[in-house]
Amino acid sequence: MKLSDNTILVTGGTGGFGIEFASKLIALGNTVIITGRNAQKLLEVKQQLPQVHTIQSDVSSAEDIVRLYEQVIRDFPALNILINNAGEMRKISLHHQHELTDITREIDINLIGPIRMVQQFLPHLKTKPHAAIMNVTSGIALMPFPISPVYSASKAGLRSYTQALRVQLKHTNIKVMELVAPGSSTPLNDKFVNEDGFNAGMLMAPDKIVDTAIKGMKNDRDEVYPGLAGVMRVLSRIAPNLLIAQSGKMGASFMYGK
Ligand SMILES: NC(=O)c1ccc[n+]([C@@H]2O[C@H](COP(=O)([O-])OP(=O)(O)OC[C@H]3O[C@@H](n4cnc5c(N)ncnc54)[C@H](OP(=O)(O)O)[C@@H]3O)[C@@H](O)[C@H]2O)c1
Repeated sequence: MKLSDNTILVTGGTGGFGIEFASKLIALGNTVIITGRNAQKLLEVKQQLPQVHTIQSDVSSAEDIVRLYEQVIRDFPALNILINNAGEMRKISLHHQHELTDITREIDINLIGPIRMVQQFLPHLKTKPHAAIMNVTSGIALMPFPISPVYSASKAGLRSYTQALRVQLKHTNIKVMELVAPGSSTPLNDKFVNEDGFNAGMLMAPDKIVDTAIKGMKNDRDEVYPGLAGVMRVLSRIAPNLLIAQSGKMGASFMYGK
């Protein structure tokens, strides 16, 4: 698809991939709106990137999504691309007590959020001659990452939903894409740096991942697998148990409480 003169909404635009998407897509001549929960962070991105438009919105709140939709459609009626990027990843020991409303937080943000965003914006996107939805999943959608069990479930769920969405939108003007991102040096991973088995050298720079995603969008790819995500894709088919065993080595003392 042509990647200039679009109007693009990026959820979670104040973090690693989101800022990269915003700055690169603006540089290509697109109008970009970003969201996030934290007003201060939105202000800081606006100072860094004056052309970006910011809206405070929590993707895990249905009310916020409706408000976001009304504001975007009013102020940016040309909106034709939605990038569901907002996400959170926690390390969780299932041996500990968790509030039942809190334990599903990644599902609320990473899975229910994009499902609701798509449902809310779909009728509008259908009115555009060229439209796209990109869902940001993860290599972890291809295999569980045991130290982050709820995150793993959220990304596998989002991948499955994205594949179903693509089939349902086959006869529309809307291209459905999935960015299967590998581990990256963004704030999302900060909480893992001190875990046993963590290897910062395996992380790919977020700008490189977003460059690959944008190239994939330009080339109308359904799925984009930057860097190690491509390796995980192959291994998840030919040696899934090996992959799970390897990913289970990270944070063993946290998970088993030894
Ligand atoms: N980094 C990696 O290794 C990696 C690998 C594969 C996939 N991914 C995926 O890539 C996406 C971006 O991750 P990242 O690494 O760039 O993370 P990040 O640097 O932590 O940024 C996350 C962004 O999402 C926003 N966000 C979080 N919860 C939100 C909510 N409820 N509503 C709206 N915005 C929310 C954050 O802003 P606020 O906190 O202000 O709301 C921030 O802008 C996520 O979906 C993540 O799962 C990341």
